[in-house]
Amino acid sequence: MKAVAVIPKQPNSAHLVEMDKPNPGDVGCGRGVMVGVLRVGACGTDHEINTGEYGVAPKGYDYLVLGHENLGRVVAVGENVTEFEPGNYVVATVRRPRGTSVYDKIGEQDFTTDDKYYERGISRLHGYMAEYYVENADFLVQIPSAIADIGVLLEPLSIVEKGLKQASDIQERLKIWRPKTAAVLGVGSVGLLAVMALRMRGYTVHGFGLDHREGYLNAELCEAIGATYDSTAETSIAQSTEKYGPYDLIFECTGYSPIIFDAMQALNENGILILASVTGGDRKADQVPSDKINQMFVLGNRALVGTVNANREHFEMGVKDLALCEAMHPGWLGRMLTHKVVGLENFAEAFEILNNTGKYKAIKTYFEVKKI
Ligand code: BGC
Repeated sequence: MKAVAVIPKQPNSAHLVEMDKPNPGDVGCGRGVMVGVLRVGACGTDHEINTGEYGVAPKGYDYLVLGHENLGRVVAVGENVTEFEPGNYVVATVRRPRGTSVYDKIGEQDFTTDDKYYERGISRLHGYMAEYYVENADFLVQIPSAIADIGVLLEPLSIVEKGLKQASDIQERLKIWRPKTAAVLGVGSVGLLAVMALRMRGYTVHGFGLDHREGYLNAELCEAIGATYDSTAETSIAQSTEKYGPYDLIFECTGYSPIIFDAMQALNENGILILASVTGGDRKADQVPSDKINQMFVLGNRALVGTVNANREHFEMGVKDLALCEAMHPGWLGRMLTHKVVGLENFAEAFEILNNTGKYKAIKTYFEVKKI
């Protein structure tokens, strides 16, 4: 079977590889599920792995098969799999509990403290940019057929769901928390999914991005789901509170770290700021009003939390939001799927789009490996 792989740490090394087709027996205890891949998302992480920034090949290989945003259909199951049958649509989670930390041992591997972690398509495990994969049934989540065509959005949504779950867990400190307004900083694919998940929870949502509103599809999608959109080229996040008031929750996913200090000053008392950008550079912020920010956090009981990766429960929360959104705003999620690349052999097309998302106005780029 075909797969798209990179030589980790070697820039622009994406290439096709030919691999043996896996079978359910590759996973022990009869728990293997063989999945035929239908769609695989291509995101900033895949782009960064292909530019050589990170990525680790599995033991015994000099290449790593890419792909962690996935949707597939069950082809065959091992003898001890009762929860899936051939024909079911499924999405696989990304990180595996292979580390030595206590979090791995209790199945909370998304909170691992190990430096060496195991993530399919990213670190030490092959990913889903292939025609087939086999996985333990424990790491698969079923997708109702009615939302199969947007199922490839579940993995990026799971990151948002984990952020929101952490926020509600942390806010239990307040005994009662009735958040009303939220700001989402950065309305790329993750940001739009955050706008959606917050709208599904009834928040008044304000989306922010660098681009001007006119003719910007992402801004149109914010407004189509009942959120506002403002360009930070015109209004800073701190200034926006003059118009909208301070935010009870802010979800940051711009990839531009200096903005977080602005966000900290836009947070309401008792509010929470969720950081979701993986910023691998060495940018430094100057002119940070540290006394003011510190005092606001202390006197206002504000909270800050980082979020990465997601566990099964966050994927399950995501399935519910996808279904609710599709029922309330039919077609909205489908509009996020802007760029389809047909066939894994056309991987160069996908990387060309990822290298120039601005030029292509891409929200979500994905491979159609096989028609749904
Ligand atoms: C994936 C996460 C992963 C993170 C860091 C993201 O693109 O969605 O599952 O933990 O990259 O590797």
